[in-house]
Amino acid sequence: MAVASAFILPFVRAAPAHSRTTRRASSRPIRRATRQPVRWMQATAAEQQPQARPTPSVSPTPTVLVTGGGGRLGRRIVRELLQQNAIVRVAARDPAKAERDVQEYLREAGVDSRKDGDASRVVYLPYDATEPASVQYEKLFRDVQVDVVIDAMGTTQFRPWTVYSTEYQARAELIRAASAKQGIRHFILVTSLGTRRWGWPAGALNLFWGILFWKGRAEQFLIDQQRRDAAKKEGGLRQYTIVRPAGLERLQDADARSWAVRLYPPDTQFSGAVPRLQVAQVCVAAMLHPDESRNKVVELVSEEGGAPRDIFEMLRAL
Ligand SMILES: NC(=O)c1ccc[n+]([C@@H]2O[C@H](COP(=O)([O-])OP(=O)(O)OC[C@H]3O[C@@H](n4cnc5c(N)ncnc54)[C@H](OP(=O)(O)O)[C@@H]3O)[C@@H](O)[C@H]2O)c1
Repeated sequence: MAVASAFILPFVRAAPAHSRTTRRASSRPIRRATRQPVRWMQATAAEQQPQARPTPSVSPTPTVLVTGGGGRLGRRIVRELLQQNAIVRVAARDPAKAERDVQEYLREAGVDSRKDGDASRVVYLPYDATEPASVQYEKLFRDVQVDVVIDAMGTTQFRPWTVYSTEYQARAELIRAASAKQGIRHFILVTSLGTRRWGWPAGALNLFWGILFWKGRAEQFLIDQQRRDAAKKEGGLRQYTIVRPAGLERLQDADARSWAVRLYPPDTQFSGAVPRLQVAQVCVAAMLHPDESRNKVVELVSEEGGAPRDIFEMLRAL
């Protein structure tokens, strides 16, 4: 991991040229949204920006499966989902640890479960992504109607077999399992910049046993599966969104106050950083706005000092 981090640093530290600015991160006043009947972008913590419009076109209480839900991005996705009144199913290798990590994060983030989402709506399930599709189906989908899958899982060990099996094989099994379930309406997959086209510095991550290559193969697997399912009259995966973030290690939640997320078309971005919180917000915005996010690949890089933009509008424009 330490070796990987050393390589990842150029990827995560480089701010995109268009984002360089002399404005100080702390100079932006914090705007707090007021409570809306539909609770999109409700500001439960100071760092949240009112970036997306309150007009979601999905049912008010979707059931959402989050793989890697105990991870650093996963916790933030859970946070955003709770604020949308979703029922959340966190799939994790160690559900007890995932629960502790999520609860601790929510506490630290100042999420008030009475106002900002009832944490009892989160269920923690045992799940190892490397299991075959039939096992995943039984554990994750069989007895429950899952509406949306957000796959935020990622390898934590940079060994050749682990990278292949986690980033590609396991994802393919999850996608197969989700497709076997009747009526998963949206599969949102988090990958990375640089999965389908080489560019510096993101592409350097491929030195770690082709991690971006295998993430890219998983993207293609999802696209192909959705196309096959779309040809069916019902069931299967109805649509996908692929979210490719820039580096996640540099920026923290608080940076979302002064760094504005930007969405770009596929294969156009290769450097920069984005706070995990903003990646979570984009994933949840994609879920809330299926027409705007349908079968799209979006790349995320944040711009220091940039004016906040409406995620809905950015999704629609892609
Ligand atoms: N870090 C970056 O700079 C960066 C940049 C672009 C994209 N990404 C991608 O964004 C995603 C989230 O990144 P992150 O840094 O927030 O990740 P993270 O904190 O390392 O979380 C990864 C999660 O995946 C889970 N996981 C790993 N192997 C698994 C398996 N075999 N079965 C089930 N779960 C498994 C981990 O579970 P355990 O808790 O059990 O280990 C953990 O919850 C990843 O796909 C990552 O590759 C990261």
